[in-house]
Amino acid sequence: MTGASEPAGLLTEVDHVAIAVNDLDAAVAFYEQTFGARVVHREVVEHDGVEEALVKVADSYIQLLTPTSEDSTVAKFLAQRGEGLHHVGFRVADCAQALQAAQDAGVRSIDQAPRPGSRGTTVAFLHPKSAHGTLIELVEE
Ligand code: CO
Repeated sequence: MTGASEPAGLLTEVDHVAIAVNDLDAAVAFYEQTFGARVVHREVVEHDGVEEALVKVADSYIQLLTPTSEDSTVAKFLAQRGEGLHHVGFRVADCAQALQAAQDAGVRSIDQAPRPGSRGTTVAFLHPKSAHGTLIELVEE
């Protein structure tokens, strides 16, 4: 059942599954050696205090994340929970529109407005406490 007030299909693809790791090179080697996967992009994202390696899977990515500073949220995540699933990025056509729709639906957002993400994307994060325990990133390519 779809209510008349629900927005129509804002999520167009699973953009990436983000996994926090202690050693980026070791994690990359794991995906290469275990699955024959290939890293297609690597970037330090200063704003978030992380370095990422993107492993391409069909039209999506596995985003391996490691902290570059002790006060990054990923460093805190690793200290508290250890390695593992950190967030899921959903692709959207228009990040501002999707963020507004989520806010209008009463979802708490971490970003109040869209901001630059890695590889030239525009992103916004929604709070896991508002999203059944999953940190959600809205990604506009
Ligand atoms: Co991400």
